[in-house]
This record gives sequence, structure tokens and C-alpha cells, in this order.
Amino acid sequence: MAAKSQILVETPSSASSLTPPMSISCVKELVESNTLITSIPSNYIFSTNLSDDQVVTEELPIIDFSLLTSGSPDQRSKIVHELGKACQDWGFFMVINHGVPENLREEMLNACQRFFDLTEEEKREYAGKHVTDPIRCGTSFNASVEKVFFWRDFLKVFVHPEFHSPGKPPGFREISSKYCKRTRQVAIELLKGISESLGLQEYYIDNEMKLEKGFQILAGNLYPPCPEPELAMGMPPHSDHGLLTLLIDNCIGGLQIQHKGKWVQVNSLPNSFLVNIGDHLEILSNGKYKSVLHRAKVNDKTTRVSLAIAHGPSLDTVVSPAPELLNSESNKPAYSGMKYRDYMELQQGSVLNEKTSLDRVRVK
Ligand code: OGA
Ligand code: NI
Repeated sequence: MAAKSQILVETPSSASSLTPPMSISCVKELVESNTLITSIPSNYIFSTNLSDDQVVTEELPIIDFSLLTSGSPDQRSKIVHELGKACQDWGFFMVINHGVPENLREEMLNACQRFFDLTEEEKREYAGKHVTDPIRCGTSFNASVEKVFFWRDFLKVFVHPEFHSPGKPPGFREISSKYCKRTRQVAIELLKGISESLGLQEYYIDNEMKLEKGFQILAGNLYPPCPEPELAMGMPPHSDHGLLTLLIDNCIGGLQIQHKGKWVQVNSLPNSFLVNIGDHLEILSNGKYKSVLHRAKVNDKTTRVSLAIAHGPSLDTVVSPAPELLNSESNKPAYSGMKYRDYMELQQGSVLNEKTSLDRVRVK
């Protein structure tokens, strides 16, 4: 039987079996309690050979944020054009000169690491609850419905319109409050530029998606060293819900994005944000800008910490393609409307698998 202090996540027993549900502990615990772990448990085998996938290194588009906010009108329209091109060609880009201080980014990553370093007993307060709980930590993505687990522990916190924070570790609340305010400003400015790049008014997305009450989630990810990295997966190929996600990590590579049928290894510039388009920008733009598949690989040497801040509409917004982008002949709505809250709960409560949540609202 598992030690009392472990974070336990109930996993389903198969419907026909009478065996009780088994429980799994977090990956950090698994790695640290087995100093000589040389192979992974079979329920972490995602694929028998991930090294067969073709992975290439390519430069992502780079967006100079300062030109968007304080450039001349000419510079701004040039960068709006580049932003539109990055959204259309890649769905993923790097943002530089964003003004968020480097030490705040470092303190935030450090605070996440310190959260994962809390004792299992301390973390248990936030463990294994419902997807609508404002603070939730756990392992894999959704261990209660998964058969194969991911080599990842996570912390998810709702930070806007209502700000939440775990009470521990010391300083987490202050740092995350500061950091999330800053990334929210960056996301809102980017969304103004993106609105314009779609030929809409600057404040179109802001107004229609009710960003004043926009839903923002902090997601900290911990990927401990994995003895068989070619068999396990930190996060499987998926797209994010919401409009824009801003990601940073502790400079240990692992993020890969899908581009033109290949996996591209992402090497971010120092002090940059990796930004990707979420499903709701795909819906709003009627598929002109697509949410991009990405995944997190693991390695056998170092712990990787990443922090994704997802920015979405307000939870009560029904998101459907912008009527301004449709016409009756050639551009019909390709997605049906769904309330963001329902979509988010659907995605978070399912097995994470490519773009299966978006497929639910796609017009067939
Ligand atoms: C996510 C995500 C990738 C990473 O949290 O949604 O895609 O590199 N993370 O950790
Ligand atoms: Ni993601």
C-alpha cells in the first residue's frame, strides 16, 4: 500500500473488473523514491520508439513587442503584418522586448520549483480534485481517465478574473500575482495586434471575448529526469484551449511543435516568451489562424520546469467565428458556438489527445 504522505490519484479499474481502483503517485516521488530506477513502469510507455519521429530545428518567427506598443505607425503596421504571418504560417512565435523583467521570470520559475519541492503532505491539500477547482496539483494530465500516464507533475491555478494562489511556498502569492498581471498585459497587447492583422478593429477581440473578465490560468509543469526518455512523454501532442498561451522554461529544451508535418525542436531566445495560438482564436478567426499541436519531450539528465500562462475569453463568452470574417458564399462558419466554460471543462476533463476537443465544435 502507498505511503500515507503520497499524492494519490484515483485511476479507474476497467468496467468489468472487480479490482479496486489503483492509485499513482507523482513522477517526482517515483523518481526520488527509487534512486536506481533504470526503466520506467509500463503504464508510462507512451510509444515504443519516439526516436523514430522526424524532428528538425527551425527558427520560429520573432515578434519585437516594443514595436507594437511604442513603435511609429509604420513600424506598428509592419509588426502587425508580421504577427499575422506568424499566426497564419506557424501558430507559434517568440516574443522579445516585452518589458517583463528577467528577475521576475526567474523568481516565478523558482517559485514553481519550490512548490513542487513541498512535501507530499503539504501538496496533498491541492491534489486530485475537480477541474473547476481554482488550485489543483497532480500528475500526468488527467490521471483519473488515463490508461497511459505522462512523465509530468503539474500545478494549475486560476489567476484572473479572481486571483487565487496556494498559501505555500512563501512568496508564491506575491510573485505569481505580479507575474500574471504582466503576462496578461502582454497577451492583451498581442491580441490587439492580432485583431488588426485579421482586418478587425484593434479592440475587437478585447470587446467580444470580454477580456476585462478574461480567464487566465497559471500552469506549472515539472518534468523530472526520465531513465527511458524515448519511451515516455511529458505532454502528448495537443493544442491549448483559450486565445493565447505564453510559455517560459528553465532553459532545458523539451518543447516541440508541429509545423508542416514535422516536429520542430524549439530553442527559445533568452528572456523571450514562446507564444502559441489556442483553440478559441482558431474558432474566432474561422480557421484562418490555427491552434498548433505541440508536445513536451523528457530527458534523462535534468529536471525541466516550464510555466504556461493561458489567456482565454471570459468564462461566459460563447465563442463562434467572427461574423465580420464570414460571407455567405465562400467563407461559411466552420465551427459552432460553445460557451468557453463548457469547452474548458470538456477539454480539461478528457484524455489529452491532439485536437479532439476542437473536433467537437467543428462543423462537419
Ligand atoms: C502546456 C504545454 C509544454 C511545455 O502546459 O500546455 O504545452 O513545454 N507545455 O511544458
Ligand atoms: Ni500546451
